[in-house]
Amino acid sequence: MKIIKSENEIIKLCSDLNIPTSFVPTMGALHGGHIELLKEGKKHSKFLIASLFVNPLQFNNHKDLLSYPRNLDQDIETFKKYGVDILYIPNEKDILNSNLKKIDSGPAGRIMEGKFRPGHFDGVLTIVNKFFEIINPNFAFFGIKDFQQLCLIYSNLSPLHNVNIIPVETVRDNNGLALSSRNKLLDFNQKKIASNIYKGLSLARKKFINNKSLNIEKYLYDFYSKYNSFEIEYVLNEKISIFNQENVHIPDLFDGQDCTVIMVAAKISNVRLIDNILVN
Ligand code: PAJ
Repeated sequence: MKIIKSENEIIKLCSDLNIPTSFVPTMGALHGGHIELLKEGKKHSKFLIASLFVNPLQFNNHKDLLSYPRNLDQDIETFKKYGVDILYIPNEKDILNSNLKKIDSGPAGRIMEGKFRPGHFDGVLTIVNKFFEIINPNFAFFGIKDFQQLCLIYSNLSPLHNVNIIPVETVRDNNGLALSSRNKLLDFNQKKIASNIYKGLSLARKKFINNKSLNIEKYLYDFYSKYNSFEIEYVLNEKISIFNQENVHIPDLFDGQDCTVIMVAAKISNVRLIDNILVN
């Protein structure tokens, strides 16, 4: 595995490649969710490129940026183990210079999760666009765990680049808690409590399938109110086509079905967790 830090070097390396490439961008502190993306990447093409960059542009809260878990040595071993050929760890000054092309996530980036994290999706799209520009991958992999991120990348960036965006299912622990780098900030008990986020989502899906007039948001607020140790920031449900853009149809990412997505954000001991479930 080659570790590259310089922008010029990665541009040169990638432009010299004449085989299809898979790309998995990450912010490190790797877990089973990231590993699933790497495995999918390797399945789609033999040549796998990953990046590790805790992107300051997408943190609307400075404390959150400072407390974001970092685990460089172990991450490098994991990237190697799962067959990464090039690991790009950009030099922050290189990549965040004044020439950086800013991408505006538009109205779809300011609703739902975007409403609670102003500027977050602009920061995500700006950095992922930059990575696509310099790496120019054939396939890029994103978790359904970050549903709105996946949709915005697909709708805003796939028209700008010749890249196939591949969604990857959410990987969960034995209790259903979605794996997340932020889980490292929770102790054993807090993780158990946090697993109720997904318990609620699964129950709501079941109820909704049997009763299409169920008020999902009310059902979930009632369910979550039983657990006073977590604070719900929002519970929302929408048709996934809400993230469509001109000529880009989000259902195309999911077998063409315009399903409903239920999204939740909750804080446990000030650690902010998000999760979602798709309902057909
Ligand atoms: P990060 O949180 O490190 O996540 C990297 C990728 O892993 C994202 O596509 C995310 O959706 C996916 N992922 C996270 N948890 C997952 C899980 N439990 N199951 C499956 N996939 C999971 O998302 C980011 O970084 C950044 O915003 C990034 C795209 C790298 C841009 O900075």
